[in-house]
Amino acid sequence: MIDDPHKHGSDELQSHLEGEGLNVRDVHGAILREKDDPRDGYEPIPLWLVSAFMALVFWAGAYLAFNSGGFQSDVYNPTQVSWTGGGGAAKGPPDPMVVGKRLFTANCVACHQATGQGVAGQFPTLVGSEWVLSGDWHGDNHLVQILLHGLQGPIQVKGSTYNGAMPPWKQLKDEQIAMILTYIRNEWGNSAPPITAEQVAKVREETATQTEPYTQNQLKAIPAIKYDSAPPAAPAEGEAVPPAPTEAQPAATPAAA
Ligand code: HEC
Repeated sequence: MIDDPHKHGSDELQSHLEGEGLNVRDVHGAILREKDDPRDGYEPIPLWLVSAFMALVFWAGAYLAFNSGGFQSDVYNPTQVSWTGGGGAAKGPPDPMVVGKRLFTANCVACHQATGQGVAGQFPTLVGSEWVLSGDWHGDNHLVQILLHGLQGPIQVKGSTYNGAMPPWKQLKDEQIAMILTYIRNEWGNSAPPITAEQVAKVREETATQTEPYTQNQLKAIPAIKYDSAPPAAPAEGEAVPPAPTEAQPAATPAAA
């Protein structure tokens, strides 16, 4: 048997220390009370931080999913109808109630509101408006004209007077104006025949010299045209029979004041 050198050594150390009046356990105890030396390494990430990070990732993913427009390259194409076409013209003819609404939201809502009802005293309503539905002395051509060139000065809409200024929209394409008009004529309970891009193109051509927004009186002097005598415009001639032969003249007679 070979003597264990370590054991032997520690015995030697012990007796040596004892000789000095020190106890091994005391010495170790002092060492054990010391803090660990700092070492390289990683603390575990706190749980709250992990959950906060995961919540952020989840929120970002949801935000992207809802607002990415399906990652289509033509997300900002205002005439696009569906997400399914994939980077180009939508299949089939665009639906004016979809595209028109989008264009209306982009261009008209600030003043006329999403409800079409405008702001009392400032922006006239489009709901049941004789301007939109070509009632009274108004024609479809007048509606296209004010969209192309704007409208200013005092006007009457459903018995209320407004005196503002509507900017021209001639920067929009014929088909875009046609879709907006078809939309506003058939939303919010309105119902009137559609306006086509060809009709807008014709008015654009005929009114090319117009530089200022129209006034109501100017428009009144322009003969009204109804493009489509389909549902509402049955009595095109003769303007129907006034219900009673009283003195109550339709307010249209004293035109161009
Ligand atoms: C900057 C505000 C503003 C914007 C934007 C605007 N309008 Fe107007 N709109 C007016 C004002 C003001 C009048 C009345 C003008 C007047 O008093 O002479 C008016 C009048 C009208 C009228 C005739 C009156 C009526 O109520 O029927 C129609 C139709 C109309 N706007 C449609 C539109 C459409 C469609 C758009 C979007 C392409 C649009 N407007 C964008 C301010 C605006």
